[in-house]
Order: sequence, then C-alpha cells, then structure tokens
Amino acid sequence: MKITVVGAGAVGATCADNIARRELAEEVVLLDIKDGLSEGKALDMLQASTLLDCDVKITGSSNNYELTANSDVVVITSGIPRKPGMTREDLIGTNANIVKGVTENILKHSPDAIFVIISNPMDTMTYLALKSSGLPKNRIIGLGGILDSARFKTYLSLALKCSPNDLQGVVIGGHGDTTMIPLTRLATYSGVPVSHFLDAETLQKVAADTMVGGATLTKLIGTSAWYAPGAAGAALVESIVRDQKRVIPCCVYLEGEYGQSDICLGVPVVIGRNGWERIVDFELNDEEQAAFNKSADAVRNMNDILKTL
Ligand SMILES: NC(=O)c1ccc[n+]([C@@H]2O[C@H](COP(=O)([O-])OP(=O)(O)OC[C@H]3O[C@@H](n4cnc5c(N)ncnc54)[C@H](O)[C@@H]3O)[C@@H](O)[C@H]2O)c1
Repeated sequence: MKITVVGAGAVGATCADNIARRELAEEVVLLDIKDGLSEGKALDMLQASTLLDCDVKITGSSNNYELTANSDVVVITSGIPRKPGMTREDLIGTNANIVKGVTENILKHSPDAIFVIISNPMDTMTYLALKSSGLPKNRIIGLGGILDSARFKTYLSLALKCSPNDLQGVVIGGHGDTTMIPLTRLATYSGVPVSHFLDAETLQKVAADTMVGGATLTKLIGTSAWYAPGAAGAALVESIVRDQKRVIPCCVYLEGEYGQSDICLGVPVVIGRNGWERIVDFELNDEEQAAFNKSADAVRNMNDILKTL
C-alpha cells in the first residue's frame, strides 16, 4: 500500500505522521511545492519512527510527482488555510487552482488512486476534483463530517462529563460554520439519547459550539487547526486501506439522496477499499431536512463561483 499526502503544512504533515504511526501503508510520500519542506518533515518523521516502533518508508518530494507514482490513496491538503475572521469560503479563488492542478498531476502517475480532499472550502473543492477529473464518484471523498463529528463529540463529552468513547454523534451537511448540521436528535450516550441527560438549552449550545469549532481554534491559534484534522484524515484513510466499512459522514456526490443532486455534501457513507461504497440514506425529520436543503443552497452558490474563476 502506498499513500501520498499533498501539502506538507500543518494538516498534511500531521496527517502523514498519523498514517505512518498507525502503519497504514508500507510507503508514505509527502509532497509540497515549497523546496525542502516535505523532505525535511519526512526525515523528521522517519527519525521519530525509530522511537515509535513503526516501520514505514516516508519520502519527501519537492513537487516531483514521479515519486508519488502508483499511490493507492492520495490526501490533498495543499492550499491556504483561513486566518482569524476569514470563512472557509474566502479561500476559494486560490485553492481551486491548486486543487485542480494537484489532482491532474497525481492522476498522471496514479490513475487508480482514491482521493481524500481536505483543502477548503472543502465541499466545493470535492465537487471541483470530481468534475475536473471525471473519475468515478466513489473515488472522491471530501473530509469534513468526520472532523465536525469529533468536535461534536468533544463538546458533548464536556457537557456530559463523560468519555467521548461512549458517545455517538454525527454532523452532516456542508463543512461551513453556518452549513453544518449536528444531529443532536440522534446523538447517544451508550445507546441512550443524549436528550435524556442534557436539557434543550445545553444541547443547543453544544450544537452552536460545534458549528464554530474550527473558527474558535483559528481565533485562539491564529491559523486553522491541524491535530484533529490530521487525525481525521488518517482515520478516514484507515477505513479505506483496511477495508473497515466504517460509516463515516463524508462529503460525496449526491444523485437524489437526501433530496439533493449534482452536489457534493456531507452524509453518512460506508468507507472501504473502493472508496465510498454506499450512502446511508437515512430519513431526516422536517427541521433537519430543511437545514440540509439550506446547506445545499449555500454550497451550490459556492460551486457556482467556480464557473467565474
Ligand atoms: N476539511 C477540513 O476539515 C479542514 C481542516 C483543517 C484545514 N483544512 C484546510 O486544509 C488546507 C491546509 O491547511 P494547513 O493548515 O495545513 O495550511 P498550511 O499553510 O500549513 O499548509 C498548506 C501547504 O500547502 C502547500 N501548497 C500550496 N500550494 C501547493 C501546490 N500547488 N502543491 C503542493 N503543495 C502546495 C503550501 O506550501 C503549504 O505547505 C487549508 O485549505 C485549510 O483550510 C481543512
């Protein structure tokens, strides 16, 4: 198994590090446009691996796509992150060109790869990668819901004062501060609805904190977060390469599911060796469906900007 991570910045390097520590592949390639950055970080990780008991070949590449040849999975994190006060949508002009170019270059050397798109605005970048590559829809997976769900579970565990391991909670819709939908109705604490333990006001606050989870970190750190995004990338890659068939909320191409078509949006999907294998088309209540439709409208408006670039 060979995995390439494009972008050796905060998210890409953390994702590659998590992939190597979990030994998800025999070979990991980290590629960046900046000379030396990926080689340096790859060498650092290789040295760390001697202390961590993991045995993975980690290679850095300064924009040399030949080194990425025959990758099974490619994670795209290249592009600019948001700064305090910016939305993910502010990044579209710069990141659209980067994501399109990177996808083309990867496909020249790894025609069978499965793509995980992390660069923001992620829903639109996933749509762009799918449309510009013409790849089968199951091979393009946008990462957002798995991270937003991790943030949802974090805030729930803080409110419940319990281990996040006992919680199930899913966030669907767009990966934006106003477009994501934490499904509080369906969240459980060891199988019991969280509404049994938390009042409506607390649940609303958990949902609101989740939605601005990324912005809160950007404000505190001065740039967008990387530990949880990198870990989320590795968890998603693990379900692919180990064919785990986990149900993970991911941004995928919809053709009528959840009442939407010709859009990439976050819904629960089965993730395995073939990429995303099946959408779990669960029935939402009226309020959730209305929020999902609103989210789709916002992402569609963003997708329309692609035509003007
Ligand atoms: N989907 C998510 O859940 C999620 C979470 C966090 C961050 N992000 C996004 O991920 C992206 C990366 O964030 P970051 O914090 O790692 O940023 P960063 O600035 O630390 O790293 C980005 C890297 O991309 C590289 N790059 C730029 N153009 C390139 C190209 N054409 N080819 C190869 N490499 C190129 C840069 O040199 C840089 O090293 C941002 O768009 C950010 O908004 C998404």
